[in-house]
Order: sequence, then structure tokens, then C-alpha cells
Amino acid sequence: MSNFAVQGGARLSGTVAAQGSKNAALPILAATLLVNEPVRLLNCPRLRDVGNMLHILESLGCTVFREGNDLVVDSGTADRFVLPTALSHELRSSIFLLGSVLSRFSEADAPYPGGCEIGNRPIDLHLYGLKRLNAEICERNGRIRCKGNHLCGAVVDFEYPSVGATENIMMAAVRADGTTVIRNAACEPEIVDLQGFLNACGFRVCGAGTPTVTIEGVEQGHGTAYTVMPDRIVTGTYLIGAAMTRGDVTVENTRPDTVDALLSKLRDCGCELTRYDTAVRVRAAERVRCVAFTETRPYPGFPTDLQPQLFAMLSVAQGTSVLVENVFENRFKHAQELKKMGAQNRILDRTAVITGAEQLHGATVTAHDLRGGAALVLAGLCTDGVTVIEHAERIERGYEQIDRAIRALGGTIMRT
Ligand code: EPZ
Repeated sequence: MSNFAVQGGARLSGTVAAQGSKNAALPILAATLLVNEPVRLLNCPRLRDVGNMLHILESLGCTVFREGNDLVVDSGTADRFVLPTALSHELRSSIFLLGSVLSRFSEADAPYPGGCEIGNRPIDLHLYGLKRLNAEICERNGRIRCKGNHLCGAVVDFEYPSVGATENIMMAAVRADGTTVIRNAACEPEIVDLQGFLNACGFRVCGAGTPTVTIEGVEQGHGTAYTVMPDRIVTGTYLIGAAMTRGDVTVENTRPDTVDALLSKLRDCGCELTRYDTAVRVRAAERVRCVAFTETRPYPGFPTDLQPQLFAMLSVAQGTSVLVENVFENRFKHAQELKKMGAQNRILDRTAVITGAEQLHGATVTAHDLRGGAALVLAGLCTDGVTVIEHAERIERGYEQIDRAIRALGGTIMRT
């Protein structure tokens, strides 16, 4: 286990570049199995979760290597369809591979992904969609066996706009026989990025970013070079850090349009915003005001992946805020940790009532999950002492060198 030690007191200021998006890179890496030729990915972040996905691809026979900052994946050498148990459990989003492995090998065998810190993470929508495409699914002994010698296009109606299920069916459908229409599809920007990658490989996908995605099955795709989109959650995390510390931070190499819901909240609580083509600047001359009501929703609603970080900001705002988590059923574990730092909050089911404190104090706290851990780093910057955050490795699943970025912005943080 590794820790972060964060010294409070600094106002974050300066410029930081957004990393490539973890949640775009992971499905795109799964999609490399859909072509037999090398794929070159630019702006692919160096993260534990990406590393685990690459290990899974290598276990399936893919050739993977870095050339400078580029990542090259050659799935021409792939020859296995059984996903490794330990790695797949470590990386829950390995479930995205079901669709691409099934499309490539007409068969897929994956461990049933366990639940995680933020909820039980069912996969019923993934399996429903694959069955709609004429796959046979057998769940036994904690594993899922899929067979699909002849995947056929179909209409797939999702009860809920699941990000992963939408991505899984897009990948399973690109080489199916006929047309697939996904209705009530998730609209996240990462899905638009996956569509961009698939079309760069010669597949035919349209409608991503809207609730209806249409995929025309084709025989074969081809290799390509593709640049992964910037990470909107990492962007939002540093912008919230500026607001919490009364700082002045510009995040560059990002997509301002993908953080609109957050920018609206930062404006509401008194921050001064400046939007550029590929950058956003947030200035907070004084303590932020509370935000009366916020609820997380599928995109373009307020993102659940920024809920913990907003929670931390509201914990030092003037006044009382209400924050509702509609996406995951257990995503408030950071509340108890923030209380150890002097934050005041009450949780009732999916609703948090947060009364801002003038000052937090240093404590030893635990990062239960990736985004909750990032929230604790931000809160640690707003104390009169030192905060030790246990399980820094969980935060590094999604943040490339977060300690280096915070130090570059004038914060004091050390990995211990
Ligand atoms: C993706 O997870 C992201 N992960 C999550 O980011 C993100 O929080 C989530 O989308 C929502 O935006 C990646 O992209 C790798 P969902 P995913 O399927 O695909 C229910 C992070 O911190 N559901 O949209 O698992 C589910 O229980 C991570 O970077 C079903 O009921 O999210 C949840 O309540 C955390 N049945 C809701 O949908 C299913 O078959 C949202 O899940 C699938 C999902």
C-alpha cells in the first residue's frame, strides 16, 4: 500500500495539461481486437487500469509496445478468447472485452466481474444486448461463456443508458450481419470517441452522443492511428481544486464542452471562468458559495465521476448544499473520510446534506475508490495541517502523476 501526504494551505495556481481519457482509452483498447492490423494510439494515458487492460490483451496473444508517447497494439497475433481471471477482476471494465472478443473469435469466456466500492455493478444490460445480436450466453461457476458464430444486427433497447453496455454492443455489432440500432444509448463523450476510433478502422457507426446509435455491419476493418480524447474528469478535478483553494488554474489540452455541467456549478458558487478552444481557466478570489442542489445524471447531466470532488468542494463552501447520487448506489464512502477532516455532512440513502466548514484539519484517511481518493487529495489542500491518504495506488488507477500535477500548481504533496 502506498500513501499520499498532503500539506494544506496553498492556493493552486498555474497551468496543467489534461491527460488522455481513461474511460475513452479502455473501450478503444478493447476495440483493437476487432482488426488484425496494428493500431497506433496517441495520447493514451499511462495508468494502472490501462496497464491492466494491456496485460489482458497480451494474455489473448496481442502484441503491445510503446513508441515514445504512442502506444501500438497489434491484434493480428491474437489467438485466445479466454480472459484471465485475476486481471479481469482487477479491472472491472474488462467486461467491455466481451463484445470485441466475441466478434473476433465467435466465442468469449470471461470471469463474472465482482462488485466494487461504488456499487454492485451488474452486467445484465451487456448480456441482454449480446443476446439480441444472436449470441448464446451461459453463466456458470462465476464465468460467462458467449458463443456467436453468426452475430446478426438487431434493435437493442436499453432500460438504462449504460456506458459500458452501449460500448460493448457497438463493438459486438461492427462485424455482425446487418444493421444494429441501440436505443436509449449512453451519450457520454467517451462513446463518441469510441465511434471515432471504430470509423477510423473502417467500420460504420453513427449517432454516438445521441440516444440512438446505428451500426452497419461490415466484413472487416483495418489498422489505424487515433488520438484519444482528453480526460474530462481529470480536467474537472483540477478545476475544482482551483475553486476549493481560492486559486487560479488553467487546464489546457482539454475539451471545455465536455465539462459544461461542472462549469455551470463553478459559476453558481462564485468562480470566474474563462473558456478557450482547448483550455478552461477557473479563478476563485474568495471562499466559494454553497450550491443549493445538485444531482448526478447520465451525460450531459452532472457526472457521477465528479460527485466526490464536488462533495469535497461543498465541504469548504459557505452554507449548506444538497447533493444526490443517482447513478451508483454506494458512492458516498468519501463522506466518512471527509468527516475525519472536520467536514460536516449527513447521508440519507442517495442524498448528502453538506454544511461547509471554514477550515478542515489534517487527518489519516482512506481512499476507498478512485474518485473518492481524488476528492480527499483536494480536501487535504484545504486544511491547516497534513493529511495522509492511504491507498494512493487506487487514485493512480485514473490520475497520471497527480502528485506531480498538484506540485506543479503550487500544492505540497508527497508519495510515501
Ligand atoms: C462507466 O462505468 C465508467 N467506467 C465509470 O467511471 C462511470 O462512473 C460510469 O460509466 C457512469 O458514467 C468506464 O468507462 C471504464 P454504467 P460503467 O454501465 O460502464 C447500472 C471511473 O471512476 N447498470 O453506465 O460500469 C449500474 O449498476 C469509473 O472512472 C446496470 O444496471 O457504468 C449503474 O448503477 C467509475 N446493468 C449504472 O447502470 C448493466 O448491465 C451506470 O453504469 C450495466 C450498468
